[in-house]
Amino acid sequence: MCGIIGYAGTRDVVPVLIGGLKKLEYRGYDSAGIAVIDNDGGVQIVRAEGKLSNLETKLNERPLHGTFGMGHTRWATHGKPNENNAHPHRDCSGKVVVIHNGIIENFLPIKQRLQKTGHEFKTETDTEVVAHLIEENMKDGTKFVDAVRRTLKELEGHYALVMIDGGDPGTIVAAKQGPPLVVGLGDNENFIASDVAPLLAYTRDVIYLEDGEYAVVDQHHVSVFDQRDQRIDRESQRILWDAVMAEKEGYRHYMLKEIHEQSRAVRDTFTGRMFEESGEIFFNDLQLTPDDWAKIRKVHIVACGTSWHSGLVGKFLLEEAARIPVEVDYGSEYRYRNPIIDENTLVIGVTQSGETADTIAGMQEAKRRGAKLITICNVIGAAATRMSDGVIYTNAGPEIGVASTKAFTTQLTAFYLLALYIRQLRGDDVDDRRYAMHELSVIPHKIEDILAKQEEHIEALAHKYYKSQDFLFLGRGVHYPIALEGALKLKEISYIHAEGYPAGEMKHGPIALIDENLPVVAIATHTSVYEKVVSNLQEVKARDGKLIVICDEGDEAMRNFADDVIEIPWTIEPLQPILSVIPTQLLAYYIALRRGCDVDQPRNLAKSVTVE
Ligand code: AGP
Repeated sequence: MCGIIGYAGTRDVVPVLIGGLKKLEYRGYDSAGIAVIDNDGGVQIVRAEGKLSNLETKLNERPLHGTFGMGHTRWATHGKPNENNAHPHRDCSGKVVVIHNGIIENFLPIKQRLQKTGHEFKTETDTEVVAHLIEENMKDGTKFVDAVRRTLKELEGHYALVMIDGGDPGTIVAAKQGPPLVVGLGDNENFIASDVAPLLAYTRDVIYLEDGEYAVVDQHHVSVFDQRDQRIDRESQRILWDAVMAEKEGYRHYMLKEIHEQSRAVRDTFTGRMFEESGEIFFNDLQLTPDDWAKIRKVHIVACGTSWHSGLVGKFLLEEAARIPVEVDYGSEYRYRNPIIDENTLVIGVTQSGETADTIAGMQEAKRRGAKLITICNVIGAAATRMSDGVIYTNAGPEIGVASTKAFTTQLTAFYLLALYIRQLRGDDVDDRRYAMHELSVIPHKIEDILAKQEEHIEALAHKYYKSQDFLFLGRGVHYPIALEGALKLKEISYIHAEGYPAGEMKHGPIALIDENLPVVAIATHTSVYEKVVSNLQEVKARDGKLIVICDEGDEAMRNFADDVIEIPWTIEPLQPILSVIPTQLLAYYIALRRGCDVDQPRNLAKSVTVE
């Protein structure tokens, strides 16, 4: 996710901005830039692709001076990670300057309208629209702050915006709708930032903006307004975190922070791609036309680890939508098994990092044999994206914890959208698609619901079971891959041996493991095979296995039957894996924590396995 820093005060602003951006590097980025307004309103902007050191090199060659400005590290979502797309962005006059974190969902119609009135755009980004819209709104003599007010009312999507105008030096407007924004209160100086990490060197007194609010900030004043432009008297808070904790936004580990980011990550992955009113799915990087799809006779999904598990769920979704065979392969197997591929095969490489050697090799093999190749990836410009015909980006933001969490749920979201897109290409019923879209649109709230209601309970279960030497995870249908994923999460961060198994398959061997010392985690939500799962679990109970069941909220029968239950909200079967995986992530996290393991950097593991 992008990093934002703004400053109005008396210090030399460039060290404040660069130092602040360095404190935000952990958020991941692929380019950076700063804008400095000098005292007579001149706007100086310097941007650079890649790491902050590239920006510093440019600033050494071309020093900027002033006491007012803003800086940004960009995690690309719209437009390649290069200097031209790096923030800040400006209007035609060059005076109105904007930095942004998030997605402006309706940027295209606004851009087209402004182009018709003569605005010239220089970048591929959604952000640039905001600068030009403010400029347009100032044409009738409206002052900068009022023009921003008018602009904000037209924007749709999720954004943290920081805007300045060379014609009104010293005033910053910061607006929040989704991604975080915090105001730092100093002595004769004030700050804006994505989170508190860059502020702690200067102040611990902050004001968190809430969704729909914006702040007008200068060296001496901070005013907060709601979306009706009514002033809010918001109390400041004192931050007691140390700098390291601040990078994790107060979470103890990146993994826990990323588990909690899944609501936003899933929303950012479907935002701008599905339109419930029209029932239309829109991918701007997929390059899969109706004619392309008409030639496809089979699909291969190639991935590793957690991404392979999302591919197993993808198989269910795509076979149901397309009614053609879908095979799922480990990259390390696919590359050497002489796969049967031709120009009628669609190969999907699934990879968070986009750099996993085995997956890349499998994709190269597919390309060499003439397949249509697309990738589901979380890193714009990664190797997997550069070799593919089309890309579906997951907008999870950088995943720092080695154990993959938000990347997985956003991969599931991407597969769900792809299945709807295929239905659209096949001309299936639009009302069914609208219903499916609505169910996806409320998933972020249901994720928040699970985290709010179940986290403490799951932590208690972790303390109850953390000494176990083995775990068995069971699931059927769309939840079989979740049993595998839950087992992987547990073993890779707690070092406890864990196996995932299809619930129906347990009687063919693993049932020999069942006794009073073996916790069995089972997913038993109401799907088409619920009754079958219940009878499998009765086999576990009959042998004194300890049953921890993830079930639907209010499942009285399961409450009375299992040793422990974790209840999750209902949703339609194809979306259930996005919800049922979350308790397994939390259980693994709190067991590993209780065992004193290094949750973010487990032994022997790398975040991206770029070797064979
Ligand atoms: C997941 O928790 C693991 N860290 C690992 O299995 C990972 O999913 C696998 O290495 C694939 O990585 P990728 O998605 O970046 O290709």
